[in-house]
Amino acid sequence: MRFAIGTDHGGFNLKGAIMEFLKSKGHEVADLGAYRMEPGDDYPDFAAAVARAVQSGQAERGILICGSGVGASVAANKWKGIRAAVCHDCFSAHQGVEDDDMNILCLGARIIGEEAAKECVGSFAGAKFSGAPRHLRRLEKVKGMEKDRI
Ligand code: RB5
Repeated sequence: MRFAIGTDHGGFNLKGAIMEFLKSKGHEVADLGAYRMEPGDDYPDFAAAVARAVQSGQAERGILICGSGVGASVAANKWKGIRAAVCHDCFSAHQGVEDDDMNILCLGARIIGEEAAKECVGSFAGAKFSGAPRHLRRLEKVKGMEKDRI
């Protein structure tokens, strides 16, 4: 699967390990920054880069890492077609895809350790949207809320 990943300074230290993990599982990963630790950088810039990559189909899924995962998810969800959530447990990371068609996983590097983060990423990467009629119906309602957005 093709992934795009982005982090601000709060998530920067976790990015390399997550990229290596995804590559070791046979995935492609596009690194959309930050490319160096810069305490003054802003999570919306990286959220926008990853959201655009997913929205355009350049990436099938995205990973965003900031300090808590919250800012990145708030920003990414402003983009049409983006369904981003903070998941720090494996159940949410796979069920978010299976039921809700989540396409960006957000992590908080100040909250979750490297090994647990890798497990969440593995659960996210391995999950597929079920396509069950009730979930399609709910997704259509969510998409209806996006109509007037970018
Ligand atoms: C930046 O210090 C921090 O606020 C950011 O990484 C993130 O946690 C926001 O939700």
